[in-house]
Amino acid sequence: MNSETLTRTAQEIMADGKGILAADESTGTITKRLSSIDVESTEGNRQAYRNLLFTTEGVAQHISGVILYEETLYQAADDGTPFPKLLADQGIVPGIKVDKGAKPLALSGDEKITEGLDGLRERLADYAKAGARFAKWRAVIDIADDQPTDYCIDVNANALARYAALCQEADIVPIVEPEVLMDGGHDIAVCEAVTGRVLKAVFDALNTQQVMLEGMLLKPNMIIAGKKSARQADVDAVAEATLRCLKRYVPASVPGIVFLSGGQSDELATAHLDAMNKRGPHPWKLSFSYGRALQAPALAAWRGEPENVPAAQAAYLKRARNNGAAAAGRYESTMENVA
Ligand code: 13P
Repeated sequence: MNSETLTRTAQEIMADGKGILAADESTGTITKRLSSIDVESTEGNRQAYRNLLFTTEGVAQHISGVILYEETLYQAADDGTPFPKLLADQGIVPGIKVDKGAKPLALSGDEKITEGLDGLRERLADYAKAGARFAKWRAVIDIADDQPTDYCIDVNANALARYAALCQEADIVPIVEPEVLMDGGHDIAVCEAVTGRVLKAVFDALNTQQVMLEGMLLKPNMIIAGKKSARQADVDAVAEATLRCLKRYVPASVPGIVFLSGGQSDELATAHLDAMNKRGPHPWKLSFSYGRALQAPALAAWRGEPENVPAAQAAYLKRARNNGAAAAGRYESTMENVA
């Protein structure tokens, strides 16, 4: 493990006013996204969509890293440049999703465990050769009656730590993502309590397994009420609860926290991040690693038509720009009126 390489990569990703594009949808997930705009999920259409995103001019001012799915890591842009090189040439760090998805947890009700540890050391070596310098592994924690159980939290925390240790051994910065889902009707206090339990277990496991906290990034959910709750908290309440929870459980040695959007609307995800950064400085940098909140308007503008590519790229650039501003605490809602 080269701790200098890891620290440097983590800091490069956490550059001021920049964040991460999560474009690592598995084939199943991207198929859902494409079918929402009536586009068939062929390898060619998946390449065309990622080509649109990765060739958007000017986006590197706001995007420091892109998370790719394995298929995309080995694809090339329309001009033949491999996607990882296309990104690296713009000063964007290429990353790779390495988990194999959340599967039913044995002997549990309907909780999930993320798989993908077998053979991971060998896969990481291959991904590094293809240009990946950071990685992502997502654990999924659902809130329901009597859930999450300590069993589910502990095994997922353990898997996240095993993944993070293997990444660091390969000089790849691990993004540790324990996602507490926003499905359900729970209120914000329940989300805060569950996220606290999860983060405590995750950092206990990371410490037990010798993970160097200075060379990793955390990708958590924000503290918000469940989607079906009638009591939605306002932006200030979300910012305060999220900061309180993170300050309790995330050591200051972690260089950066990059939030997932998790189903929040794109503008709300931006406003929440901005509200937190306006309350800074904090022990760690706070930025974004959004999938849907960066891509939704671009996907809707594209609809699979080549003539819509400029409009789709403009929509993506706008979300990247506004989230970049939020990462610096300089976002204003009037920026939504500027194309
Ligand atoms: P969302 O921002 O759409 O939640 O996606 C981020 C991500 O990478 C989830 O693993």
